[in-house]
Amino acid sequence: MQLVSGYSGAVNVTDVTSRSGHGRAYGPLVTTSETPDTGYLPVMLNPFEPGFFDDPYSQYRLVREQDPVHLSPIGAFALFRYDDVHRVLRDPGLSVEDRHIKPLAVTADADIEAMLAERREGGTHTMLNLDPPDHHRLRRLVSKVFTPRTIEELRPRVQQLVDEHLDAAIAAGTEVDLIAALAFPLPFIVISELLGIPEGRDRSQLREWSGAVVKTFDPILTRDEILASFDAIDNINAYVNEVIAWKREHPSGDLLSALVAAEDEGDRLSEIELIEQVMLLYVAGHETTVNLIGNGTLALLRHRDQLELLATDTSVDTTFVDELLRYDSPVQMSRRVTIAPYEIGGTTIDAGSMLMTALGSANRDPDKWGPTADDLDLRRPDARDHMSFGGGFHSCLGAHLARLEGEVAITTLVRRFPGVDLATDTPEWNGRIVLRGLAQLPVSLSS
Ligand code: HEM
Repeated sequence: MQLVSGYSGAVNVTDVTSRSGHGRAYGPLVTTSETPDTGYLPVMLNPFEPGFFDDPYSQYRLVREQDPVHLSPIGAFALFRYDDVHRVLRDPGLSVEDRHIKPLAVTADADIEAMLAERREGGTHTMLNLDPPDHHRLRRLVSKVFTPRTIEELRPRVQQLVDEHLDAAIAAGTEVDLIAALAFPLPFIVISELLGIPEGRDRSQLREWSGAVVKTFDPILTRDEILASFDAIDNINAYVNEVIAWKREHPSGDLLSALVAAEDEGDRLSEIELIEQVMLLYVAGHETTVNLIGNGTLALLRHRDQLELLATDTSVDTTFVDELLRYDSPVQMSRRVTIAPYEIGGTTIDAGSMLMTALGSANRDPDKWGPTADDLDLRRPDARDHMSFGGGFHSCLGAHLARLEGEVAITTLVRRFPGVDLATDTPEWNGRIVLRGLAQLPVSLSS
């Protein structure tokens, strides 16, 4: 069984071939503004370049300017311009299903390929990776829990959790890792409560598994990362099965009980669909919002004037989260698959190609945002046009929840501790290309 196949498509490879299936030659994996040997592309997105995680945006800018419909070494097309990303995500003529993708120009060890093939056999059943009508049926089953009104009802609980976590942090000392103290536990507890997952399992163990699973959203993985993800998927799968069995015995008013009831009716949700939807909601519910709170706080700490604005002026409360999402997107890529030849930006792309939409690049495209595209401006009037939640009928189901958690966590932090400051100049990134975020964010808390 496959778990969540990913926001970007999760091409699992241990080695990348130097020639794509589309007949264009590539140079080595380096990014350069100079044109190397004839026949080689002038720029290439290279997440292995030192400094990529500190600043992926300068690489995005080069590719966006020089090769915006970019054929990557793995044979997928990556799109870097706002207009292209916007159009592709909303195009109902494109698919999200892996079965349409032609083999990519990648290699993996034979044993890994065999294990992947076995796991892919049953297909994937999450709404994220299914086209209509299955997509619409699955999304409808859960969507009423995620409407703005239902999510707004969670505000007091979210505020209480933020207050409690900040109380605990300051009680333990003025210097804290904000990821461990607030950014991770808040969305983790909220999605667990929303689903109705009982407390009890060691949270750090679940966090480790879910971290290994979401690493598979990246386009390139090492052998060890792939093997770790297999273990983690099996472990989370077993855990979710346990939880579902428990919920069957202890139904209540939560989302998981509603899904179990839908599965019992049979025709609306199969058992495998139930398990995979729960895993998707559980993982998507916390592995993304942690990055909104972490990346967003880091951006404010590095733009002191904006932090002070947020600390003192409530008029930005309705716009600032969107600007933080635009400025450093927690999810950097989504994807679609062509099912017929597709023309974009003057390039015709074959059927069966993967289109990776570089959300973080679209969010910084000056053709959309003007000359201030790289500035953090909490008053930006059109910040909500960002691409961080994707678009079209796959656009993020949890967007209202993520905005609420981000808003409450960050406003409470900077208003309670307006002197909050970075305790290091070099915060540690989590090493994920797609789910971009910090492993740690040491800060000092002061009023
Ligand atoms: C800041 C936090 C978040 C970000 C940046 C984010 C981003 C995204 C993106 C980019 C997509 C793919 C959209 C597309 O391809 O068009 C997506 C889909 C999805 N997200 Fe989120 N997400 C966040 C939080 C959440 C939360 C809290 C949940 C709650 C459960 C959630 C549940 C989902 C689901 C279920 C989908 C699949 C929707 C579909 O295929 O119809 N996300 N999200």
